[in-house]
Amino acid sequence: MKELKIPLIKDGTVIDHITEGNAVKVLHILGIPKTTNVVSVAMNVKSKFGKKDIVKVENRELDPSEVDKIALIAPKATINIIRDYEVAEKHRVNLPDEIRGIVCCSNPTCVSNSKEPVKSRFKVISKDPLRIKCYYCEREPEDISERII
Ligand code: CTP
Ligand code: ZN
Repeated sequence: MKELKIPLIKDGTVIDHITEGNAVKVLHILGIPKTTNVVSVAMNVKSKFGKKDIVKVENRELDPSEVDKIALIAPKATINIIRDYEVAEKHRVNLPDEIRGIVCCSNPTCVSNSKEPVKSRFKVISKDPLRIKCYYCEREPEDISERII
């Protein structure tokens, strides 16, 4: 059977095991339309555990704040740092018990949406399926991925 393979990269980051269909959201988090780096995307690729998406960004190593955001939409993703064709580092993304400053509360009258200098803060009440609740007003955002800042 013929198979389409995305080429290995020399240096950069491979985000692997992304929840199928969520590659576009990962690209959004990475601000991809604005970058000049070479980016390859594979969606709905067969893997050991069903289907997955993959994003490869050349010549860029992600910073931890970007990785935390990816955890919200692709909790099983791995972050592979590639240096000179080798996987130099492999990290699983990690959902913290509390999320600060990444998701915007859906309640317009929440103190985190006011003029006060209060950063958004959510408690993770369930990891799978992901459910979070605002620390201040207790509102549960429905579509978390739409509310990532
Ligand atoms: N990769 C890449 N370029 C390289 C090395 C690896 O694009 N020079 C990609 C691979 O295609 C794969 C990911 O980085 O999607 C992780 O590589 P590797 O750890 O070698 O693969 P697996 O062992 O299958 O990873 P896992 O066990 O995490 O599924
Ligand atoms: Zn709130």
